[in-house]
Amino acid sequence: MSYWAHFRVWRGDSDKGELVDYPAEVNEGEVVLDIIHRLQQTEAQDLAVRWNCKAGKCGSCSMEINGRPRLACMTRMNTFAEDEVVTVTPLRTFPVIRDLVTDVSFNYTKAREIPSFAPPEGVEPGEYRMQQVDVERSQEFRKCIECYLCQNTCHVVRDHEENKEAFAGPRYLMRIAELDMHPLDSADRQQAAQEEHGLGYCNITKCCTEVCPEHIKITDNALIPLKERVVDRKYDPVVWLGNKLFRR
Ligand code: SF4
Ligand code: F3S
Ligand code: FES
Repeated sequence: MSYWAHFRVWRGDSDKGELVDYPAEVNEGEVVLDIIHRLQQTEAQDLAVRWNCKAGKCGSCSMEINGRPRLACMTRMNTFAEDEVVTVTPLRTFPVIRDLVTDVSFNYTKAREIPSFAPPEGVEPGEYRMQQVDVERSQEFRKCIECYLCQNTCHVVRDHEENKEAFAGPRYLMRIAELDMHPLDSADRQQAAQEEHGLGYCNITKCCTEVCPEHIKITDNALIPLKERVVDRKYDPVVWLGNKLFRR
C-alpha cells in the first residue's frame, strides 16, 4: 500500500537556505533515504545528499530527521504517522556544503591529532599474544562506522563552535580509550586525553550514546572508565605506571 507523505527538506548552501515542502510517494518497507532518492528522480533533481551503502554500514547518510540525528537509510517511514510532516535537515554541528551534505572534516582533523598505536620498542611481530579478555574489552569500539552522529550531537560542540579546537568529541575520546586499554600500547594516553583532547569538557550527558546507530556504550564503556583512570593517575601516578607494567 502506498501513500503520499509530506516532506520538508532543507535546501541551500553555506550562505543561505530554507525549508522546502515536497509531496512524496511512500511504498511499504521504505526508509527516509528511499524518499530522498525519489525526490531526486522527480521534483528535486539537484538535491544533494551523501550516501553509499544503504545498509547502515558506511556512515555516510547522517542527517537530522524531525530534529533527531539519524541515518536516513535506517529510518523506516513506518515510524512516522502518514499525516506527519517529515522534516529533513543537515547535521547542525558541521558547516553545510549544499542541501543535506555537510563538511565533516572537523572529524578527520581530530582523528589525525591522535597518535597511532605505539608498541614498545623491540617487540617484533608475533612476539606478543593478546589475551582474549583484552581483545573483548575494546572490540565494541571497533564497531564504529564513523557516521559522526555522536560528534554532531554532543552539546560541547553542537552549540559552541569555540570549543571545537579543544575537544576531540566522543568518537575520538573513545579511540583514545581504546588505545589506552591496549596492553601493548606504550603512549601516555591519559594525560593527553585530559590536556590535549578535551576529556574534561565531557560532563557525561550520554547524548552521544543515545544516537549511536551501532549501540556502542560510548559513555559507560569508554569515556567514564577513561575519566576514572585519569583521576586515579592524578592522585597516584604510580597507579598509572603500575597499570602499564603489570597489564602486560
Ligand atoms: Fe557513529 Fe557510534 Fe561511531 Fe559515533 S561511535 S561515529 S555514533 S558509530
Ligand atoms: Fe558529550 Fe557524550 Fe560526554 S554527549 S558530554 S561526549 S557523554
Ligand atoms: Fe551507508 Fe546509510 S547509506 S549508512
